[in-house]
Amino acid sequence: MPFLNPKLGIDFSDYIADRTLNFTGREWVFEVIQNWLADPKGDRFFLLTGEPGSGKTAIAARLAQFAQGTENCCETKDYPEIDAGFLHAVFFCSARESTWTSPLEFSRTLAMQLAQSIPEFALALKDIGEKTVNINASITVGSAESSTIQAVVVQNLSIQDLSGQDAFDQIVVNPLRQIRGEGFSQPVTILVDSLDEALTHDKDIQNTIVNLLSKLSKDAGVRLILTSRNEGKIKDKFIDIAYEELFLSSPENLERNEQDIQQYIDEQFRREEKLLNSLQIESLDQKTSTTKQPENPEWGKARSLLTSFKLATTLLLITFVDRKIQKR
Ligand SMILES: Nc1ncnc2c1ncn2[C@@H]1O[C@H](COP(=O)(O)OP(=O)(O)OP(=O)(O)O)[C@@H](O)[C@H]1O
Ligand SMILES: [Mg+2]
Repeated sequence: MPFLNPKLGIDFSDYIADRTLNFTGREWVFEVIQNWLADPKGDRFFLLTGEPGSGKTAIAARLAQFAQGTENCCETKDYPEIDAGFLHAVFFCSARESTWTSPLEFSRTLAMQLAQSIPEFALALKDIGEKTVNINASITVGSAESSTIQAVVVQNLSIQDLSGQDAFDQIVVNPLRQIRGEGFSQPVTILVDSLDEALTHDKDIQNTIVNLLSKLSKDAGVRLILTSRNEGKIKDKFIDIAYEELFLSSPENLERNEQDIQQYIDEQFRREEKLLNSLQIESLDQKTSTTKQPENPEWGKARSLLTSFKLATTLLLITFVDRKIQKR
């Protein structure tokens, strides 16, 4: 099965790398997702919620890495459902970039990634693109005999004069429905991070990515992993759809969160110890040497370590605030 390529459409690869810097723990979250995926009768939607900074995007980005095959989950157990290729498309909403909350860009990015992950989808997209006047789809098909599809590459997909909803229906939902109708029976899983940030696109929630997802028809046969801050406005949109929720910041997860933070701090200290040792050796070397030394690359690591400590502090703060709220 082709692995996920998060460079197609909007390129999320730098964002994924940045958000998973020094990623630690969270195996218990991955276990819940593994179990949800392993149950074919489970809900269609999995909603990962949590307070700001609780680690939702980091988890989403890590899941994208598992799907890409660049990282493996997990140390203690084998989780076959979250292995390479398990996601077929990913999208990270961000209020900082207007395209990252745009329903049109969302549809385009998803369509391109799905076409790369699922050759049958690429063929259906190509057909639909040719039939639909408003879609200008330039698609190059490699070996396209449906029984032995080897490679399908969607080089470019541009959409003109379509609303977000129409684009989503035409280039994402309809090709999915078509391949399901033709007997494609493998699971299709899509991850969308930060639904709360998607709301910044338009005052009216009807014009946002959240609305597209909440209306996604069942016969597209898609399972969705969604993340969001714990906002009623978003949950209300999914009220009629059965979904499994994991609230990261709930009191019953306090101990697990604390263990993750402890593990994170232990690992940072281990790193720091190594770093200090190498810096001491370096400073001794410099004292005994008369020639000018190039800058020690460890200084770069020291700088990133300081950033990591800031992150750990954020996580710790959230946990302590949670605890205070509980005690009230
Ligand atoms: N498991 C982890 N290991 C290491 N660092 C982490 C982990 N989880 C989160 N962080 C760091 O903590 C910070 C906050 O995490 P993240 O951005 O994922 O939170 P969030 O729940 O998505 O927040 P928001 O609601 O604001 O989007 C980030 O800088 C992230 O890199
Ligand atoms: Mg986030």
